Amino acid sequence: PRIAVFASGTGSNFQALVDAFQAGPAQYEGDIVLLVCDKPQAYVVKRAEAAGVPVACFTPKSYLSREQYEEDVLLKLREERIDWIVLAGYMRLVTPVLLSAYGGRMLNIHPSLLPAFPGLNAVKQALDYGVCVTGVTVHLVDEGVDTGQVLAQRVVLVEKNDTEETLAARIHAAEHELYPAAVADVVAGKLSPSRL
Ligand code: GRF
Repeated sequence: PRIAVFASGTGSNFQALVDAFQAGPAQYEGDIVLLVCDKPQAYVVKRAEAAGVPVACFTPKSYLSREQYEEDVLLKLREERIDWIVLAGYMRLVTPVLLSAYGGRMLNIHPSLLPAFPGLNAVKQALDYGVCVTGVTVHLVDEGVDTGQVLAQRVVLVEKNDTEETLAARIHAAEHELYPAAVADVVAGKLSPSRL
């Protein structure tokens, strides 16, 4: 399977995915053949260049609508014969343009145990709420904000003196383990979304 990763930021999850799929054991069937980025200055672009992954940058501001932006992205995905979209810190909501083409074949990772704390600042939301347990969730993408079907989760315990930084660091570490493994299972058909 041919995988495109979409990212907007630092790209530590992109890196974990690339490391696993480029060098990982045989269970990592599939190839990360494209990074789609909506922020040309993002550090993830440098990571992709260093890893030899082709980059397609699109600047949403130069389009009249989100749909037109996605039509262009979709053309690129078709050209590259992409089978799966893996969102990794892609800070945009997806519209029906991409969803109708890739519904059921688009994954995201979120830094909480969904359905708790969807949306932005999930780590801070969890700390502010005072939960003892949080974690990370890999889920299918649908029209909502972090509402798609859950595929895999990993628990991260909140420690007494955690700050947003210390908790986020452990959550990131959990993401870097869970996401490549979950993506590999899904694209290999070993972890099937049951309610498609
Ligand atoms: C991760 O925490 C992920 O859960 C969220 O965005 C963040 C991306 O971090 N969707 P990075 O750019 O992969 O370091």
